[in-house]
Amino acid sequence: MPPSESKSERYRNLNQRLDPLLAGETDEIALMATIVSELHHAFADFHWTGFYRVVAPGLLKIGPYQGGHGCLTIPFERGVCGKCAREGRTQLVPDVHALPYHIACSGSTRSEIVVPVRDGRGTVRAVLDIDSDQPAAFDAKDQHALETIVTRLQPAWPG
Ligand code: SME
Repeated sequence: MPPSESKSERYRNLNQRLDPLLAGETDEIALMATIVSELHHAFADFHWTGFYRVVAPGLLKIGPYQGGHGCLTIPFERGVCGKCAREGRTQLVPDVHALPYHIACSGSTRSEIVVPVRDGRGTVRAVLDIDSDQPAAFDAKDQHALETIVTRLQPAWPG
């Protein structure tokens, strides 16, 4: 992970690594685990990177992740992840302490981004949650890059 790489270069190189790794893969967990592993190790200030899956109407359950343990279930009414799943919109949080509804799985989390993961019909099937111990670690470049990366999961939910 050369420190001199720009954020755009880092995402470009990440996608070049994901292409062969995910080619032809349709298993949801294999896709999620590989994306999370590559994402987490591509950015030094990502200290928690993981998926929460929609396992029942209004309920998220933890999926593949990297970093310290995360809470196992999140109802759509709670947290930044629940808001993302409820609204189907990316949540870009520069300061988690400014959000009374933020669920703190780690005391060191300062900023967060949560991206909805949709199937081919546009239904939200999961969210990708990334926490950083740096304030305002995420911006529009991360949002665009991550919203593109999560489309790699669509083969898991054909039709
Ligand atoms: N911060 C998330 C909870 C998941 S832990 O950060 C891994 C939220 O507020 O929904």
